[in-house]
Amino acid sequence: MCSVVGYVGADYSRKFVLEGLSRLEYRGYDSAGFACIDPDDNRLMYAKSEGKLRSLVALLEKEPIDGFVGIGHTRWATHGVSSQQNAHPHFDCEKLISVVHNGIIENHHVLKHELEAAGHTFHSETDTEIIAHLFEDSLSTYNELHGALVDLVGRLQGAYAFISLVQNYPDTIILVRKRSPLCIGIGQGEMFVASDMLAFAGKCRNVVFMPDESFALVRKSGVELYRFDGTPLPLLVQEVDVTWDMYEKQGHDHYMLKEIYEQKTAIHNTVNFLHSVKDRIWADMGVTGEQIFQLDTINLIGCGTSWHAGYIAKFFFETICMIPVQLHLGSEFRYLPFFPAKNSIFIAISQSGETANTLEAVRMVNEFNIPTVALTNVSSSTMLREAGGFVLTQAGREIAVASTKAFSTQITALYWLAHRIAYEKKIITAAQLEGAQEDLLIAAEVLENTIENYKLSIIKELAPRYARYGKMIFLGRHSSYPFALEAALKLKEIAYIFAATYPAGELKHGPLALIDADTPVIIFSHQDPIIYQKLLANVQEVKARGGHIIAFAFEGQYELIGLADVVFEIPRVKPLLGPLAMTGLMQFFFYAIAKELDRPIDKPRNLAKSVTVE
Ligand code: AGP
Repeated sequence: MCSVVGYVGADYSRKFVLEGLSRLEYRGYDSAGFACIDPDDNRLMYAKSEGKLRSLVALLEKEPIDGFVGIGHTRWATHGVSSQQNAHPHFDCEKLISVVHNGIIENHHVLKHELEAAGHTFHSETDTEIIAHLFEDSLSTYNELHGALVDLVGRLQGAYAFISLVQNYPDTIILVRKRSPLCIGIGQGEMFVASDMLAFAGKCRNVVFMPDESFALVRKSGVELYRFDGTPLPLLVQEVDVTWDMYEKQGHDHYMLKEIYEQKTAIHNTVNFLHSVKDRIWADMGVTGEQIFQLDTINLIGCGTSWHAGYIAKFFFETICMIPVQLHLGSEFRYLPFFPAKNSIFIAISQSGETANTLEAVRMVNEFNIPTVALTNVSSSTMLREAGGFVLTQAGREIAVASTKAFSTQITALYWLAHRIAYEKKIITAAQLEGAQEDLLIAAEVLENTIENYKLSIIKELAPRYARYGKMIFLGRHSSYPFALEAALKLKEIAYIFAATYPAGELKHGPLALIDADTPVIIFSHQDPIIYQKLLANVQEVKARGGHIIAFAFEGQYELIGLADVVFEIPRVKPLLGPLAMTGLMQFFFYAIAKELDRPIDKPRNLAKSVTVE
């Protein structure tokens, strides 16, 4: 899940390549690199550095190189540690072929062995370097790009997107795509290429999304596109209207904090947007009202935070429209038995719309003729294009790796959708559907106000106190259990504090042995009186064993408030929206702990915003 970017045209390429890479740094930031063809002597030149893109920028300022044809890369390490040596671009033996790559070459062990036996020398631990050497091999046999590329792709296995510059073809960028995305922006006498069109948004409107298993030769004068077997493909040029706005932190220390504060507006925007598409929703989703009416099962799938949103939404669909939900983890789905059911729908939840695990699941389900819907925040995403239909959240661009407003708008959209389906099935009235929209806006208000209520005590007292703990336990019941999973994920990814999460009722089946005064137990309450009583009993079990309790309680839950060492009191909302109401405060608390620990909050170690490899 790296990003690749390239440019060929009348301008120098470096400025665009670096800007494009900075827009796509969400795909990885372990190292960065740039290669170009020197306009004076047509030599292939490069620079690469470990760490974030700014290191490469600094290096290129000190030792500038540039050319009218250039490619660049930011890396999220899959094969080989994050180091200068493993940074892209990678080269063949003679350093005449450079390759930047996003994906995984699955047969790289076998290929490396063969290439080494044939005399090739490797300088990195990456699978990417194999492509460069294999390309060298194919080019020496075929002596021209087209034949060499057909040969090359026939030998590679995996899911990959790479771009390459070859010194002997100084006017050409070579693009190869299998499964992982690649697109070409067609400008006036210039071409942009990238893993995601956001890299060149605002610079050109005509885009070719490369078909699966294709390669392209891109020159400033035009594009040749071929299937992997070498037969020509037509260029399907789409006009797209995606702009790029500079998203500054607007006075906040981190994007994450800015995005936490944007949630109320993002929820409002999502509700208003869905309200405006009310009657068009089934057409957008690629289904008919009749299909919705006959639904027997709803499948929800996602990874990480998006999976947590789906887990919370399971309670919406099962309670509000009384349709059973099957929840799937994107990373597991394709390796488990799948029983395609009639009258079912498959909703893929993904902020980015690029997550490889979820995307591959959509592709698989498409083959069974079951309606697939991408519930995503990015209208230009691959998932939106490949699913049968879509539901768009209106979070606005989310930059921090830790998902905040994407999560709350996913919950918003799913809650709304559950009501819209219930309305279609005549389970609720139009007035109740309107009421659900109001309830979402009330929850958004609570989400924001509770941050304000506790902000000072968190910053001054609670974050410094809890930043000292090395581990925490998270508990919830019913829909507050998946919320506890999301809370623990936030703490882990931004503060690097170990967290274990359990449905509270499971404690006595084992994890109760972990309770001690050094492990804070964070409990997320529920408004349903029966669930609350059960949760209370679990809290008493913790208290009786000397546990230290931090409770997110709803107003009036006096017994829980009395038992806890620290209490965050949340105003009551519609019970199913309890998790949404608690979202802002939970995120702010863990943000403050991570800040106290001086973590790189927006770009935590080892992570990337968008996980585009399986
Ligand atoms: C959560 O904070 C993470 N950013 C991560 O779990 C994320 O939700 C997951 O990788 C799925 O991403 P997606 O929503 O873009 O598909």
